[in-house]
Amino acid sequence: MKYNFDKIIKIKNTNSVKYDSAKKYGMPDGLFPMWLADMDFKVMPELTKALEKSARHAVFGYTTTNQEYFEPIQKWFASNFNFDIKFDWLVNTPGVVFAITMTIRALTKSRDAIIIQTPVYAPFSNVIENNNRKLITNSLIYKNGKYTIDFKDFENKIVKNKVKMFILCSPHNPIGKIWRKEDLIKLGTLCLKHKVIIVADEIHCDFAYKGYKHIVFASLKKDFLMNTVMCTSGGKTFNFAGLQIANIFIANKNFKEKVILEIARTGYDGLSKSGVVACQTAYKYGDKWLKEVKDYIYNNLSYIRNFLKTNIPKLKLVDPEGTYLIWIDCTELGINEKHLKDILENKAKLWVAMGSSFGVEGTNFIRIAIATPLINIKTAFNKLFKALKSEKLI
Ligand SMILES: Cc1ncc(COP(=O)(O)O)c(C=O)c1O
Repeated sequence: MKYNFDKIIKIKNTNSVKYDSAKKYGMPDGLFPMWLADMDFKVMPELTKALEKSARHAVFGYTTTNQEYFEPIQKWFASNFNFDIKFDWLVNTPGVVFAITMTIRALTKSRDAIIIQTPVYAPFSNVIENNNRKLITNSLIYKNGKYTIDFKDFENKIVKNKVKMFILCSPHNPIGKIWRKEDLIKLGTLCLKHKVIIVADEIHCDFAYKGYKHIVFASLKKDFLMNTVMCTSGGKTFNFAGLQIANIFIANKNFKEKVILEIARTGYDGLSKSGVVACQTAYKYGDKWLKEVKDYIYNNLSYIRNFLKTNIPKLKLVDPEGTYLIWIDCTELGINEKHLKDILENKAKLWVAMGSSFGVEGTNFIRIAIATPLINIKTAFNKLFKALKSEKLI
């Protein structure tokens, strides 16, 4: 291994949302934070160097992106996903959630219905409801520790509610699912049939584990491409969410114009200079680092899988096919979410994401971010084991 992911980096007291916002979220102090999808690793050295160079250049005026910025990203998507993106499709935003919001506002009207597949990343429902759109949920089917899509319910709800937009989460957070080609084709075809626009949130696209391959939704058919706003960001892949830059690809000119107009309405103009530098550099040099960080995280996952099997078999890991988030079914403990949260916070001293925040279907599950040094994983799971033991739940 070229990079040292075992090293503990001091993050507390650096204005980190993950480490420094317990008070804001009503959490007790002193918990180990595993709730947010940040990695606890340094970025790749090339990225630090590029940011240092930019800092020495010391010019931080209003910033845009150009062909040179775009090329490494284009190469990345061509070689990793066999998808040929065009510079013309690029819209930069400070983040994916911002882009989803802009797309909702640009391409749907007040009170229009928008469908999501729950349990799913919580901001989807927030931005739908905060923008006065009607939230429609298509619950995923959970059976024998695996998730599948209820296509019948998906189509019925689209028809019944005259749904105008679908927010696809691919790979799917929090369940760690890499959707199969057949699933994506079925979803895309149903959306075309009922004139439902698709927002494809593919922010976790670079995190498919061995044996699984992420398929870019818009790469499947020209019709899908023309019906999709594709949201990506190096923020998750290379761990620079705080630099505030996302790459949104919109091949449909009409959609693109409307989204750009909606962004202009907010007054947002000009990008984060550091974000531009980081993004360009990361896609240019990042494949080695990404491979290693994925191997490291996969090793964390193997540790957790074994630990739970051996020590806490009542906790069922929904084995992830991708993402650096794990989803654990805690139903067999036989306690309610309030009790579980109390044990996690006050006994195990862990801050994890409670399942119900992803939709009611997530009740009795927890989501844990595992991109952290292995020693933290070992400590956390041992604390969890002791806490459950002391409560006589295992
Ligand atoms: C599915 C999904 N979309 C979007 C985001 C956030 O993206 P951004 O920070 O670019 O808004 C996350 C963060 O965890 C995520 O999991």
